[in-house]
Amino acid sequence: RTQTVFGVGNPEARVLIVGEAPGKNEDLQGEPFVGAAGKYLNELLAIAGLSREDVYIANVLKCRPPSNRDPRPEEIQACTPFLREQTRTINPEYIVTLGNFSTKFILQTNTGITRLRGKIHVTGPFRVIPTFHPAAAIYDRSKIGAIEQDFDLIKLLLDTDAAREKAGRDDEEANHD
Ligand code: URA
Repeated sequence: RTQTVFGVGNPEARVLIVGEAPGKNEDLQGEPFVGAAGKYLNELLAIAGLSREDVYIANVLKCRPPSNRDPRPEEIQACTPFLREQTRTINPEYIVTLGNFSTKFILQTNTGITRLRGKIHVTGPFRVIPTFHPAAAIYDRSKIGAIEQDFDLIKLLLDTDAAREKAGRDDEEANHD
């Protein structure tokens, strides 16, 4: 690998996006999701009403595996203390896990992504929304409907939170009148 790819984005983000590992472009630029999968991720974020500046983006592995092969258990073990600390520091409300590797780590499960996606999972203080990896949806277009539905769900959740917060503020103001 050329360099580590630690993570990028808003340290106050309400939404943390977790991918698998840097690819060729990420390794060259030092930033996650800057290649084709990243371009599609930007479109998916827009579906949820989000931009890259709103979220924090990290990967399970911080270094590109040779020829983009799957992460090995010892590599996951070496890198996840960093992801754990990123999660703790950013303290997001939502974690969106992209694909099997990040979903397995965040939810500590062996269940596959196809069964887990489309639902909200709770782990500790976090609400986790697992979805397909954008690269998998580019490769297998039958996954596009599902992945876009998952980002619609994220929009719904964020909009509902915003409406609830506004109602709370309006109530407080009414109580002061
Ligand atoms: N795929 C990932 O999982 N992460 C990246 O940063 C880029 C592609």
